[in-house]
Amino acid sequence: MSTTEENEILHEYDGIQEYDNPLPGWWSMLFVGSIAFAILYQTLMWMHPDTLGMHARYEASVTNMLQKQFASLGELEPDEATIMGFVNDPEERKWLDVGRAVFQTNCVSCHGRDGGGSTSAPNLTDDSYINIKQVADLPNLIRVGAKQGAMPAWGNRLLDNEIVLVSAYVASLRGSNVAGGKGAEGEVIAPWPSN
Ligand code: HEC
Repeated sequence: MSTTEENEILHEYDGIQEYDNPLPGWWSMLFVGSIAFAILYQTLMWMHPDTLGMHARYEASVTNMLQKQFASLGELEPDEATIMGFVNDPEERKWLDVGRAVFQTNCVSCHGRDGGGSTSAPNLTDDSYINIKQVADLPNLIRVGAKQGAMPAWGNRLLDNEIVLVSAYVASLRGSNVAGGKGAEGEVIAPWPSN
């Protein structure tokens, strides 16, 4: 840094002198410029949070996909015939994948990856059930929950069709008796109807 005569000596201490060297112009411009940009950007984002349109596009594509899927299904009845249709009809079984996706997202934390249960939830792959006597009990129980919320109520967290499809997936788990599953709880119930 240059130390011409114009540079006023501001301090001297123990023989160390401090000169008044101005910051280079480009540096100050960058500094002020970045503050100005930050304010401008924040204001823009505050006024139009979705300026870049990413959130909207993501939402649109997910909704679009779901709409396409569920539009072709219509409004599913949460009854035995509908649920067992997904389990037993080879044409309809593909929908169990959607049920599995719902299960993987919301249920595995307690019921385990393959439905074998855990210390916090019963095994869904054996023939014993605590709250279930027949197929139609599945969507009802999933909607309202059980045991004071130990089994959460999913009625306002999942779409009605998701509840039917996850019920079908849970029904399809019965009898898979996954290795290392939790011991039986409740009572052995009559087999699901076969069609
Ligand atoms: C926070 C832990 C937890 C989560 C998450 C959870 N469950 Fe449960 N679930 C339980 C518990 C605990 C029970 C047993 C309730 C009882 O003992 O009455 C249960 C019971 C059930 C039963 C009845 C089993 C029986 O033997 O009566 C079904 C069916 C079921 N859950 C399905 C699901 C589905 C589908 C999901 C995801 C949408 C899910 N659960 C998410 C804890 C959970």
